[in-house]
Amino acid sequence: MCSPLVWTPELDALVLAGHAAGTRPEELGHEAELPAGTAAAFRSLVRRRPDREPLEYITGRATLFGLEFEVGEGTFIPRVHSEAMVGQAPDRCPDGPLRVVDLCTGSGALALAVGALRPGSDITGVDISASAVQWAKRNADGCAPGSQARSTSSKGTWPTRGC
Ligand SMILES: C[S@@+](CC[C@H](N)C(=O)[O-])C[C@H]1O[C@@H](n2cnc3c(N)ncnc32)[C@H](O)[C@@H]1O
Repeated sequence: MCSPLVWTPELDALVLAGHAAGTRPEELGHEAELPAGTAAAFRSLVRRRPDREPLEYITGRATLFGLEFEVGEGTFIPRVHSEAMVGQAPDRCPDGPLRVVDLCTGSGALALAVGALRPGSDITGVDISASAVQWAKRNADGCAPGSQARSTSSKGTWPTRGC
């Protein structure tokens, strides 16, 4: 069912099965049977992968630094190699809550993950894309209510559109 262009078909299938069943893939396991009524949903999710729709767009979720973020069409999927930056950034700052401004924030994941390491931080995400800003706002509401996400102009005269 999966094209050879999907590099990790078993893992992807497991993640999608977990998503269809409303459970974590690691709780499902390779030999598990899907709960009744979820097979059709699973099949329709699997059919989207051979067209190279990102797994995270299909599930609507991405993980960074142990935190879960909402992602989808119109925003960048945070990459696992960004975790090093998230881990090191606070080490270069004074102790206590930080003022974090994340230019080109995308989903807001990096800034919000830094904020999670330093509770009470003031976090502002900035992005030129209104769509990305919407995702960042959703994630800010989910992870850090009260934090801000703003959009900029392409020339960097930011912020021009408060959200
Ligand atoms: C590769 S994504 C990275 C997103 C995020 N930092 C991450 O690592 O998950 C780059 C982001 O920069 C934004 N961007 C590009 N040019 C920009 C500009 N001039 N001002 C603000 N944001 C910009 C894009 O809209 C996009 O969301």
